[in-house]
Amino acid sequence: MTTQELIDKYLEFFRQRQHAVIPSASLVPENDPSVLFTTAGMHPLVPYLLGQPHPQGGRLANVQQCVRTGDIDEVGDNTHLTFFEMLGNWSLGDYFKREAIMWSWEFLTGREWLGIPSERLAVSVFAGDNDAPLDEESKAAWKALGVPEQRLRALPKADNWWGPAGQTGPCGPDTEMFYWTGEGAPPQVFEPADKRWVEIWNDVFMQYRKTETGAFEPLAQQNVDTGMGVERTVAVLNHRTDVYSTDTFVPALKLLTSRTAKNDERGLRIVVDHLRAAAMILGDPAGVVPSNVERGYVLRRLIRRAVRYGRLLGIQGMFTAEIGATFVSAFQLRYPWLKNTAGFVREQFNAEEERFLATIERGTKKLERRLKNGSGTVFPGLEAFDLLQTYGFPLELTEEILRERGWTVERESFTSAFRQHQQLSRTATAGRFRSGLADTSAETTKLHTATHLLHAALRKVLGEHVQQKGSNITPERLRFDFSHTSKMTSDELKRVEAMVNEQIGRALTVSRDEMSPEQAKQGGALGFFGHKYAGMVSVYTMGNFSKEICTGPHVQNTSELGSFRILKEEASSAGIRRIKAVVLPPQRTANVA
Ligand code: ALA
Repeated sequence: MTTQELIDKYLEFFRQRQHAVIPSASLVPENDPSVLFTTAGMHPLVPYLLGQPHPQGGRLANVQQCVRTGDIDEVGDNTHLTFFEMLGNWSLGDYFKREAIMWSWEFLTGREWLGIPSERLAVSVFAGDNDAPLDEESKAAWKALGVPEQRLRALPKADNWWGPAGQTGPCGPDTEMFYWTGEGAPPQVFEPADKRWVEIWNDVFMQYRKTETGAFEPLAQQNVDTGMGVERTVAVLNHRTDVYSTDTFVPALKLLTSRTAKNDERGLRIVVDHLRAAAMILGDPAGVVPSNVERGYVLRRLIRRAVRYGRLLGIQGMFTAEIGATFVSAFQLRYPWLKNTAGFVREQFNAEEERFLATIERGTKKLERRLKNGSGTVFPGLEAFDLLQTYGFPLELTEEILRERGWTVERESFTSAFRQHQQLSRTATAGRFRSGLADTSAETTKLHTATHLLHAALRKVLGEHVQQKGSNITPERLRFDFSHTSKMTSDELKRVEAMVNEQIGRALTVSRDEMSPEQAKQGGALGFFGHKYAGMVSVYTMGNFSKEICTGPHVQNTSELGSFRILKEEASSAGIRRIKAVVLPPQRTANVA
C-alpha cells in the first residue's frame, strides 16, 4: 500500500459517509500565538470545535501536514517523526462516540477498506478520574463490535486524554487503536507497555473545555476529532515495523546511502527525518526561513542537526538541498504549493548549510588556537559550552577534534551550564503557551477584528499591492506583516490609525456569510494562501470598508473595539513591513464641571 492509496481510501470512506473533504492547512497556524507549528488536524478547527458553524457542515475529513518537535529525541526509533501526515475525520456536534468507533473499526477491518484481521488490533479507553468519569460509552461500543475484554484497556489521563495543547481549549477522553507489529500471532492480552503494539489511530471525544482555572467545563457541542498516523499505518499495512520504510522516504534514503559507507541506521533516519521536516517548513507559503528565533530557530536546528549527523556518517560535500528536493517531489501532489516554492527551498538549504559549515570552520580555528596556547589534556566544560553558544559548535564536534589530540572535555560543568541554559529557554518558551491553543478570549477576538480593519486601511492609504503576509495575535497586541517596500511615513501611519478609529466610531456590524471561494473573490473579499480554500468559505464584512475570507472569531460590532493605536512600524524581512498595534478601552470623557 502506498501513502497516496491509504489517503485516497480514507477520504473516500468518509466521503461516502457524508463528510466534506477539506484541504490541509498551512504548517504555520494563522492568528494563533500558542504554538509554533500545526501539530494536529484539529488545530485549524478549534473555533468550530468551540461552536462556530463550519461553512462546510458538521462532518469533515482531511489529510493534514503536521510538525511536532516535542518528540525530537525519539526520532530515529521506529515510529517517531518530526514532520508527518495525519488523516482525520471530525464531527462538529453531529455524530458521537458510537458512530465514530463503528466507522473506525469498519475502515480498519472491512475487506474493501484496510482489511486488517481484527485479532491484530487492540484498543484503549479513558479510565476516569476526578475530572471526568470512565468512558463507559466507548467501552460498550467496542464490545458491541466484538473486541474481547483482554484487548480492551482503560488507561489514565496521561494516555487517553487529548488536548488542549495550551492551557485552555477543547479537550476530552480518547480511545486509541493499536496494531500488533510483532512476529507471529499477537498475545491474547493487550499490554500497552509492549512497544510491539503500535498506536495507529486516535478518536478524541471533545466534550470539555479546559478553562483558565483548570476546570473541565462541558462543551455545549459534543465533537469527534480523530487522527490516524499516515506513515505508521502505511508501514504496518506493508508488514513493516518502521515508518522510514514508507514510500516518501525511499528516494532520500537511497541517495543518502549511496554517499556513505557507514551503516548507522539511527543516523540515517535522523538526517532524512530532519531534512523532510525542514523541506516542508521551507516549502510552506508562510515563508519561514532559518533564524535564531521561534520557527526559524526550529528550522535552523533541524538543518544543522542533519548536517551534523551527515558528517558523522562520513558524507562529503553539500547534501541537504539534494535530499530536501526528493521530499518536495514526493509531496507535490498533496501540497501543490511546493511546485512554486521548490527553488526557494533549494536556495535556503544551500545557504543554511554553507553558513553552518563556515561556523564549523570558525569554531575549529578558535579551538585549535586555544589548544596551541593551553596545556593539559582536560578541556574546561564551560569553554566547550561557550563554543556551542557563540559558534553553534556542537559538543560532539569539540570532542571529536580534542580526541585526535588526546584531550577530553570536562563533561560535568558542560552539562550543568547546558541544563541551566535549557531551563532558561524553557521558561521563555512557556510564555508562548500562556494564552492557550487558538485563544478565543475577548481580547484576541477584538484584535482579530482590528486586524481586518487595519488591513483594509493599509490598502486604502498605501495601495492595493498591500497583502497580508502574516498575523500573530496575543491578548495584549496584534502583529501584522504585509507586503510594502518602503518605511511608512508618520503621516501614513496617522492616516491608517485614524481610518481604523473612524470605522470603530461608525459602529459597523460585523457580518459573516458563507459562499464559494469564487463568489468571495468576485465579491471583492480579500483572501490569502489561495490553495487552502475549497468548498465553502466564511466571509466577514464590515460595512463597505472591509471584506475578508476568514475563520474568525470576530466581535459583533466594531464599536466594541475601543480605541486603536499603532505602536510600531518596522521592517520584517525584504519587502515586508510589520505593524504592532493595540486596542485600548474606550476613552471615558472626563466630566469636568
Ligand atoms: N487530535 C488527535 C491527535 O492528534 C486526534 O491524536
